[in-house]
Amino acid sequence: MVFEGAIFSSASFDKADFSPKVLTCIDRSGMIDRVISVDEPDYKSVKQTAENLNILHPIPKGSYLLPGFIDLHVHAPQWLQAGLALDKPLYEWLQNYTFPLEAKYQDLDFAKKSYTSLVNELLANGTTTVLYFGSIHTDANLVLADICAQAGQRAFIGKVAMDNPEQTPDFYRDSSSKESLEQTELFIQRLFDLQKKISAELTPVITPRFVPSCTDETLAGLGQLAAKYNLPIQSHCSESIWEDNYATERFNLRDAEVLDKFHLLTDKSVMAHGTQLSDSDLDLFNERNTAIAHCPISNVYFGNSVLPVKHTHEKNVEIGMGTDISGGFSPSIYRNIQQAVMSSQILQDSGEADARISATNAFYLATVGGAKALHVKTGQIKAGYKADFQIVTDQYSELMSNEPQDVFERLIYHTTKSEINEVYVSGKKVINRGENHGRK
Ligand code: GUN
Ligand code: FE
Repeated sequence: MVFEGAIFSSASFDKADFSPKVLTCIDRSGMIDRVISVDEPDYKSVKQTAENLNILHPIPKGSYLLPGFIDLHVHAPQWLQAGLALDKPLYEWLQNYTFPLEAKYQDLDFAKKSYTSLVNELLANGTTTVLYFGSIHTDANLVLADICAQAGQRAFIGKVAMDNPEQTPDFYRDSSSKESLEQTELFIQRLFDLQKKISAELTPVITPRFVPSCTDETLAGLGQLAAKYNLPIQSHCSESIWEDNYATERFNLRDAEVLDKFHLLTDKSVMAHGTQLSDSDLDLFNERNTAIAHCPISNVYFGNSVLPVKHTHEKNVEIGMGTDISGGFSPSIYRNIQQAVMSSQILQDSGEADARISATNAFYLATVGGAKALHVKTGQIKAGYKADFQIVTDQYSELMSNEPQDVFERLIYHTTKSEINEVYVSGKKVINRGENHGRK
């Protein structure tokens, strides 16, 4: 397939590239083969060939090809409570709302309905790659994997490990450390089997819920499993003052140091939030090449402060965006980009020098940052990258300025599901709204 039209793609933390008219050529394996600019000698002949083969896809005027977004932090089972009880503190929200909801996913029919809705919602919002927390239930997590595969979304999925009786309720806990580790390993093997059977882009992830939820034995065993299978790891790190204090009281160490002690900070680790990370923690993240999932909406409710994105970036720690459904209410990465910019301005006004970030900075996190965190060649529109796209319409192109920077900022601030016309993952169309679309 060959797309013809305008593209935006992040070039660096500080720069988004705009090309008004290019041919973006996709090969049979779903990779971007070439991006041909209009002044290249074979532009016309490539276009003509594509037209003859009926594989030319013109992007209408006022619409733009953008990379699909990467969401680095979603609690799949929490979708059904998105937006609920967010006036409660984290500990209470977990114990009284979240754990009882997650426990229901033992019922696979319930899981199937909820996960089908969530995966479609994320795709419709332009999110093509997701790092998911599942629940503690191996079978329900496989239902999620199957739904992602069928819907065509690239998914990294973790069976949540949580076995500490002091921090988890009787009705929602791995019955022992042995059970927690055995089920984690079983999930890994069954996901690999599924992946082989249907050749979908699915990866199992080692997932200690967070330090308080796990016994030492489980944290140690999960570190070993990550090494044995060379897998990504996800957890929460220094999300709140409460979490930070808990680590100090139990281990006399910082939360990040506890995770590191159990070999859970690696170059394949993605830690959610990090709002309370100290400079020495950031140095440790940098040394280990561990990334942060920045979840700015959730952080307003539970983070006790704003992640200093600019400072963290300057400390050379990779950052991507996360919705943290349902600590964050919105499944939209656009909405989270907006909040990341807004929160950074509040941070600056509360005394942190040079804290403001731009829409361009946050767009980098949502695309390149997330892709680097997961080591997937996606998030950019250039040769050698996966053809993960969203085609979005600028609602106001007829009325307002069409300077590239203005269009870019307008897209970031005004795009909702309704303006996302088509979504592609590895060259395969997974969303087609059709009605907004001009020529095909
Ligand atoms: N810490 C441990 N579990 C959770 C969760 O489900 N959401 C958030 N935001 N923080 C957590
Ligand atoms: Fe979370």
